[in-house]
Amino acid sequence: MYEAFFGLREPAFALTPDPRFLWLSDTHQEGLAALVYGISRRKGFLLLTGEVGTGKTTLLRAALDQLSPDTDVALVLNTGNLTAIDLLKLIAAEFRIEGNFESKADYVIALNKVLLDRLRAGRNTVLIIDEAQNLSPETLEEVRLLSNLETDTEKLMQIVLVGQPELLHMLAQPSLRQLRQRIAVEHHMESLAPGDVGDYLAHRLHVAGGRYEDIFAPGAESVFYSFSAGCPRLLSLLADRVLLAAYSQEVRPIPVSTVEQKAKSMNASRGASLRDQLSRVEG
Ligand SMILES: Nc1ncnc2c1ncn2[C@@H]1O[C@H](COP(=O)(O)OP(=O)(O)OP(=O)(O)O)[C@@H](O)[C@H]1O
Ligand SMILES: [Mg+2]
Repeated sequence: MYEAFFGLREPAFALTPDPRFLWLSDTHQEGLAALVYGISRRKGFLLLTGEVGTGKTTLLRAALDQLSPDTDVALVLNTGNLTAIDLLKLIAAEFRIEGNFESKADYVIALNKVLLDRLRAGRNTVLIIDEAQNLSPETLEEVRLLSNLETDTEKLMQIVLVGQPELLHMLAQPSLRQLRQRIAVEHHMESLAPGDVGDYLAHRLHVAGGRYEDIFAPGAESVFYSFSAGCPRLLSLLADRVLLAAYSQEVRPIPVSTVEQKAKSMNASRGASLRDQLSRVEG
């Protein structure tokens, strides 16, 4: 609603994982290169981890856009309570494998055949599991078994696990050490550094058709950084609220004080919701 006032063609700070808005900080650049390299060189197992809101899903989508057209991708997004057989069913559905399968072995046999056919046809197959921190150790073990599908020389399927740092803790468990050892390429996404914040905001505004200098007065970056600790999702959330407030006050460029006020009120409500949750737990 405020776009026209700031000279934007579209919202600059939507919270969707849209790769068009991706700004490549060092950590995003490295992560993207690792994903594209690991998948296209058929490295087998890949791992991408990072704190909540650091841009993992967005980066994944950007990587998919860069893969060659002979790549087939199955993307598993809903990982909550997913059993091993559910996972196999989802993969079969994604790869359009049809048949009457009763056991896990039936699925794996059918999958193996399809993957071999694809390899012979020169195609590369990728299984991506986002939010993998929600998988149970049993389902992760099934993922490991899938990574065993290979010929004497090649992996039949590249598997990318993406998740929050809890995933790293899970993979450190002794029962999952076999899986841990198979990971050929991995990257952990860091938060943005204070010096990245202005570039992040400017890039998103630029993609939306605006100019950072016309929209924010100098000095706003440090307030954005203190509020977000460099988390991109929190930066976008604050920026959106600030733009809305400045639009209703009809101020442009936006003074640092407006950013400070919004950051303060959002911090207060974050504190309140935390207090609510705690009192519910304690009560
Ligand atoms: N490098 C970046 N450039 C531009 N936007 C980014 C970047 N990193 C993250 N974002 C934005 O931040 C928001 C959160 O990103 P995303 O959903 O990819 O994070 P995530 O790491 O997958 O989070 P979660 O752990 O909750 O799944 C999105 O709106 C995304 O577009
Ligand atoms: Mg995500």
